[in-house]
Amino acid sequence: ADESGRRVFDLRTTAGEHQFRPGRATATLGVNGGHLGPTLRATRDETVVINLRNALSEPTSLHWHGMHLPAAMDGGPHQMIEPGGVWTPTWRVAQPAATLWYHPHPHQQTARHVYLGMAGLFIVDDPTTPAGLPSRYGVDDIPVIVQDKQFGDDNQLDDSEAFWTSMGILGDTICVNGTLAPYHDVTTERVRLRLLNASNARIYRFGFSDDRPFALVGTDGGLLAAPYETARIQLTPGERAEIVVTLRPGERAVLRSYPPEVGTNVWNARFSGGHDTLDVLQLRAATQLSPSPPLPDRLADLPRTDTSTPAAIRTFQLSGYSINGARMDMSRIDFAVTRDTTEVWEITAIDEAPHNFHVHEAQFRVLSVGGAPPPPELRGWKDTVHTPPNTPVRIALRFGDYVDRNTPYMYHCHLLYHEDQGLMGQFVVV
Ligand code: C2O
Ligand code: CU
Repeated sequence: ADESGRRVFDLRTTAGEHQFRPGRATATLGVNGGHLGPTLRATRDETVVINLRNALSEPTSLHWHGMHLPAAMDGGPHQMIEPGGVWTPTWRVAQPAATLWYHPHPHQQTARHVYLGMAGLFIVDDPTTPAGLPSRYGVDDIPVIVQDKQFGDDNQLDDSEAFWTSMGILGDTICVNGTLAPYHDVTTERVRLRLLNASNARIYRFGFSDDRPFALVGTDGGLLAAPYETARIQLTPGERAEIVVTLRPGERAVLRSYPPEVGTNVWNARFSGGHDTLDVLQLRAATQLSPSPPLPDRLADLPRTDTSTPAAIRTFQLSGYSINGARMDMSRIDFAVTRDTTEVWEITAIDEAPHNFHVHEAQFRVLSVGGAPPPPELRGWKDTVHTPPNTPVRIALRFGDYVDRNTPYMYHCHLLYHEDQGLMGQFVVV
């Protein structure tokens, strides 16, 4: 913290290397190091200041995915940092406890920059979170950044065109926090995993190898109202889930990704990993586990969204690399929303490709999926949602009061190849 009590982070984007395999260097990008970046952490109502230097030889940006902040602080494609340049965004954290993240957002280069390793978690803490959730970072509160990589013969990350399909890169090798074949030594009865799908295109359907149930406690933008017991949680790129799993002394449990429900035709499902089963993380419980408190029954107050008189209802059709027939144009603002109003957006993917939809600035609530009420895992705060083909997804968004007529926020598909190709638009808050 600085003299005025603001929380200061010194970051630099770096080109470096990382040993995914011992003794063998892979060229990577990272933040404050060769690969990935530090977990940033701030408390609700705290003011953060980021001193970010771009030490790459090319322009990039860092976007605070899921954060409610002024558009000029957002780190999108309009906040580029030239090589050697410094950018110093600052804002007050004004949102509940959540697992957010950060990653570059240079227009048409996002996929490559993220794939090569620039990403990290940004955890928001909130003093009103009830006791009982495992919260000792690295002990029983574990970041799980999941990415799939494709290694070439020379041990380098392969981002060449040959491996790109119309969904972008799909790797056959899973790493968690940059580690291949990862495990975690568990010392407590319960562990909280903060799952982040930081992959370019792959959709994961997480579950344990013995199908044990776990408690879903949080989604993209915050804690659920109450824990929800399930055996599977699906995350498309950009989505997060916080789960709490219970272990018995001495046992091993493997977190795995089962074939996801992509919802497309068989051909597209196959090329988007819809048939893949992949091991993600092994949990190795010690022979003696220290007791964990029971999970709280109530986790957070989720306000009911009042959509009786939305300020606007907008429809978005995703197809190919376009939204409503238009590809991203940095100089075109697609629409303006009014400060402090609630809007309803209906997003429909009308081709047979996998897509999702991410909105900057506002955490939203899902109103319906294909006309039906959302399933429990979509009832909390979300900033990214899967949009299966021909299935309208209705969301309610409330915009804050960060008015800026000239600086837009983005909305886009978070399959990064699609985003880079133009499946993105821009809005301003006025
Ligand atoms: Cu995760 Cu527009 O970004
Ligand atoms: Cu897409």
